[in-house]
Amino acid sequence: MTTLPTPFKRLRRLRHTANMRELVREHDFKLTDLIHPLFIEEGITAPVEISTMPGIVRLPESQLAEEAKALYELGIRYVMPFGISHHKDEEGSDTWSDNGLLARMIRTIKEACPDMMVIPDICFCEYTSHGHCGIVHDNCVDNDATLENLVKQSVTAAKAGADMLAPSAMMDGQVKAIRTGLDAAGFEHVAILAHAVKFASSFYGPFRAAVDSELDGDRKGYQMDYANGRQALVEALLDEEEGADILMVKPGTPYLDVLANLKKETNLPLAAYQVGGEYASIKFAAMAGALDEKAVVFETLTGFKRAGANLVVSYYTKQVAQWLSESR
Ligand code: PBG
Ligand code: ZN
Repeated sequence: MTTLPTPFKRLRRLRHTANMRELVREHDFKLTDLIHPLFIEEGITAPVEISTMPGIVRLPESQLAEEAKALYELGIRYVMPFGISHHKDEEGSDTWSDNGLLARMIRTIKEACPDMMVIPDICFCEYTSHGHCGIVHDNCVDNDATLENLVKQSVTAAKAGADMLAPSAMMDGQVKAIRTGLDAAGFEHVAILAHAVKFASSFYGPFRAAVDSELDGDRKGYQMDYANGRQALVEALLDEEEGADILMVKPGTPYLDVLANLKKETNLPLAAYQVGGEYASIKFAAMAGALDEKAVVFETLTGFKRAGANLVVSYYTKQVAQWLSESR
C-alpha cells in the first residue's frame, strides 16, 4: 500500500470558521454600491405589475414622491428613472421638453428627496414611435443627428435637477457631445455615467416588455457585438477620453471578463448593470423553487465587485435593502 503525500499547503486553514473566513474575505458589497432603476408610466393611476419582471412595477407619477421617500428611508441613495411615455413621436421630442415625462420625474424625485441622487437613463427608445435609440433615416439610426438631440435631452435633465446622466444610446461621440453641451449650459458639475460598453443583448428582453418598447428588429447597428471583448476596451477608453466620469459595462453577468479587463486599463470608477434578463433569470428560478434567491443575489453582487465594479445598477436594490434591514 502506498502512503499518500501529506498536503503541505493547506488553504482550508483559512476556511475553518466563520471568523477566519470573514478575516480574509476580499470583497463584499454595501447598499450604497447599488443604484435602483425605477419605471414610471404617465397616465396611469395605480402601479402596474411587470409580467416579465415579477416584483417590479411601473409606478404612476402620483406615487413617485412617496416611493422616493420610502427608498431613501430604506437607505437607498441612487435611483435611475425610466419613463414609459404616452407621448411618443419620431424623434422622442418629449425628452427635451421642460414639461415632458423625463423632466417631471426628475423634479418630482428631487423635490421629495433632495439628497437622493437622480441618475436618469439618457436615450430615446422609450419615447420614439419606432422604438430606436435615435433618429431613423433610411432605416438606419442617424448618429450625428441623434447627438444633437441627446444634448438637448441632457440639458433638460440637468435643468430639472439630475445629478448624473447615464447616456445609453450607443451613438459615437455621445459622451463628448453631452459633456460639451452640459458645460456650455452651465452644468459643469453634472457627472456622466457612460454606458461605455453596451452589448446588443437578448437579456434586455424583459426590460423591453417592461417599458412597452415599440422596437421591431434589433439594435445591432449601434450596440456592440457580444463576441467582441477587445473592441469593448476601445469603446470604453474612448468614453474616458470624451469626458466620462464613470464607465459602465452592460449587461453584467455574462461580461465579467470585460469588466475585469477594463479595470486594468483605466483608473476611473467602474459600474456594472445587472439587466432585466438577469433579474428575471434569478426571479423565475427562485419562484420555481430551484434557487435560493437571496443567496444567489448576494453571490452575483459580490461577483460584480470582485470583477472590478465599484457600483452596480440592479433591480434587486430595493429587495437587498429590505434583506439587509431584516438581518440587522
Ligand atoms: C435603452 C436601454 C435598455 C436598457 C436600458 N436602457 C435596453 C435596450 O437597449 O433595449 C436595458 C435595461 C435592462 O435590460 O434592464 N437605451
Ligand atoms: Zn435606447
